[in-house]
Amino acid sequence: MAKSSQAILTVAGVDKTYDGATRPALDRISFSVEPGEFFSILGPSGSGKTTLLRMIAGFEQPDVGRILMDGDDITHVPPFRRDVRTVFQSYALFPHMSVLENVAYPLRMAGARKGERLAKARECLELVSMGDFAARLPHQLSGGQRQRVALARAIVCRPRILLLDEPLGALDLRLRQQMQHMLVSLQRELGIAFVYVTHDQGEALSMSDRVAVMSEGRIAQLGTPREIYFDPSSEFVAQFVGRSNLLPIECVSREGGITALLDGQPLSGITTPRTGPARMAIRFECVRLAAADEPANGACSVAGKVEDVLFLGNALEVNVRCGGLNIIAAVTSAGEGYPLGREVRVLFDASNATVFHG
Ligand SMILES: Nc1ncnc2c1ncn2[C@@H]1O[C@H](COP(=O)(O)OP(=O)(O)OP(=O)(O)O)[C@@H](O)[C@H]1O
Ligand SMILES: [Mg+2]
Repeated sequence: MAKSSQAILTVAGVDKTYDGATRPALDRISFSVEPGEFFSILGPSGSGKTTLLRMIAGFEQPDVGRILMDGDDITHVPPFRRDVRTVFQSYALFPHMSVLENVAYPLRMAGARKGERLAKARECLELVSMGDFAARLPHQLSGGQRQRVALARAIVCRPRILLLDEPLGALDLRLRQQMQHMLVSLQRELGIAFVYVTHDQGEALSMSDRVAVMSEGRIAQLGTPREIYFDPSSEFVAQFVGRSNLLPIECVSREGGITALLDGQPLSGITTPRTGPARMAIRFECVRLAAADEPANGACSVAGKVEDVLFLGNALEVNVRCGGLNIIAAVTSAGEGYPLGREVRVLFDASNATVFHG
């Protein structure tokens, strides 16, 4: 294939069914990653993320399809010949080697001289803020520190692509957030393409240039974090990415157009291409609450009663019973509270709602 393509990595029509499995782990997967891109693969457990990553690394073979790097077909190239490194969730450091020796190890395997490999290993430890820990053994480190060492070891040979499989999964929330910032600045500094696997939508949205959302071995949607978040292409994506109400609506012909009804009440400004039953996704944070007698001012508006409230620190999730259904609003916790049973008006803008037919 000609090297005209800009992509550093192309996965082209890949299928994979494990021996004895009844359904494919990967089903017609195709996408490309640009040089220096932060590309995430997001999906629930069992959706095929690790299988896909192992295939890019060369540990699995596709039944059908090809993997290309810089336009070259590497489908049958063994893992150690691919310019790719992987960081796994369990940071498999060598227990008897110091931090510095661990990081220098891939350079030793590549035949680099001692002086060069120690200098490069030190440089990488500085990049992940672990310079002061060079002499320690892995068991003398915390989980987050070990993971940073594993990262330094993966980048010491400057691969063109770094694969990361849930690398922050074992860390607590605060450490995960710190590591997210570190990963983003590290990736910018190095210019290496990252392919980052996670089931945590917050992680995928906050760090990535683009996200592929996977469901049952297929890519359900591929787009920028904003596209995935604000313009989900299916109910699955709407539910999996962020927190959304998924409400049954009825679209009926009325006054020469189509009107959407929520629990029998017309919704202002919702446009749909056809009549019949449908579902409308509206994010918790796009729902506002107002006094029961407040005018709607062009917004979609439903009356209801507060059924329960979750306190989430900076936000409250208020579950409002509106006739035959429940709508959840995420509102700031700074204002007044919402006593159970209070009558409220639920408001949202049609522009924030997405309608799914069929
Ligand atoms: N070695 C294997 N042999 C047989 N089936 C496998 C093997 N590895 C994975 N599978 C199956 O393939 C499917 C995809 O698994 P995979 O590990 O890729 O999912 P995942 O998205 O990484 O999930 P998780 O988030 O739990 O890590 C699952 O149904 C799994 O049971
Ligand atoms: Mg996995």
